[in-house]
Amino acid sequence: MSLLELHDLKVHFPIRRGIVFDRTVGHVYAVDGVSLSIESGQTYGLVGESGCGKTTLGRAVLRLNEITAGKVVFDGTDLAQLSEKEMRRRRNRLQMVFQDPLGSLDPRQNVESILVEGLAAHDIGKTRDERRKRVLKTLDAVGLPGNALSRYPHEFSGGQRQRIGIARALVLEPDLIICDEPVSALDVSIQAQVLNLLEGIQQELGLTYLVIAHDLAVVRHISDTIGVMYLGNLVEEASSDDLYAAPRHPYTKALMSAVPVPDPLVEETRERILLTGDLPSPANPPAGCRFHTRCPWRQETRCDTERPELRQIGTGHRVACHFAEQIESGEIRPTSELAAAILPDAEVQTEVPNA
Ligand SMILES: Nc1ncnc2c1ncn2[C@@H]1O[C@H](COP(=O)(O)OP(=O)(O)O)[C@@H](O)[C@H]1O
Ligand code: SF4
Ligand SMILES: [Mg+2]
Repeated sequence: MSLLELHDLKVHFPIRRGIVFDRTVGHVYAVDGVSLSIESGQTYGLVGESGCGKTTLGRAVLRLNEITAGKVVFDGTDLAQLSEKEMRRRRNRLQMVFQDPLGSLDPRQNVESILVEGLAAHDIGKTRDERRKRVLKTLDAVGLPGNALSRYPHEFSGGQRQRIGIARALVLEPDLIICDEPVSALDVSIQAQVLNLLEGIQQELGLTYLVIAHDLAVVRHISDTIGVMYLGNLVEEASSDDLYAAPRHPYTKALMSAVPVPDPLVEETRERILLTGDLPSPANPPAGCRFHTRCPWRQETRCDTERPELRQIGTGHRVACHFAEQIESGEIRPTSELAAAILPDAEVQTEVPNA
């Protein structure tokens, strides 16, 4: 059963100008029609370059960003339709873990007060003792000692601070946790520990995760399903294994080709697709396929005029590209103008080694 379903979710931020007359001169189309669903107990990884709308999407689910259009169906209820009061009542079931643990933890509060705050807001636990018990149990679950209670965020290392951030979400016993770049601010050596912790907690408690990251390596192992975003749209979605074995959308291919492969032989010969051109502004996204300004496979016929729908292509694999099949079969080759962006050895090499 899916716990969370997004139906054509849109979040547009108005761009306002003017001192005397405050007028809207345009919109940032941060999230522009995303539909996806997350099964209960599973992890959905959302990846894409910085600025493609990942955080906005996550925040919209929690109604921290105003929803312009579409539905956010959580456990059968459309959150977009709830009053603020009704939404607040449900907020303990949906929690968020942020990228920067130091920035998201109040430096003047000790760990106990950080964790108790949410309990008090949701009226969970009757006595101070009861709340403390629950807090201690949560600290234990995230691998922090009980004596952390009286300490302050700055007294901890980055990894430990992220554990506090996870504990703050966990103490409310949520069903869904949105982890927004949960390890991006941490040393590489610590990243795996925090990801393993998230996985362990999930298995124990049956939690559902939406894990957001700009780094494919981060979401790969933790995710059951991965969605790739580009300029406010989902361009590809598949099971983690399928997506890595056979990325179908040109943008995903480019993202993947930027991830180094541990095997030096494969690393030396693998195809690299370097994206040319800047990421267009989400305030003025290209018409047609939003990726057409950077796509090496772009076709004159439809790419710049017709917006590709996210369509099913194989079991559980969705892709938003008019020419996914022809690219796959080799019928369509990268166009000469942009082919320079692909290393010359790609010419002789027809098989893309899978990492
Ligand atoms: N509150 C806001 N007001 C206006 N624009 C915003 C706001 N929040 C985000 N944006 C813009 O929306 C786009 C998507 O941002 P974001 O969701 O943070 O991307 P990501 O998390 O993928 O890096 C960016 O262009 C960003 O500048
Ligand atoms: S629709 Fe056209 S421009 Fe868009 S990804 Fe496919 S080939 Fe490239
Ligand atoms: Mg972000």
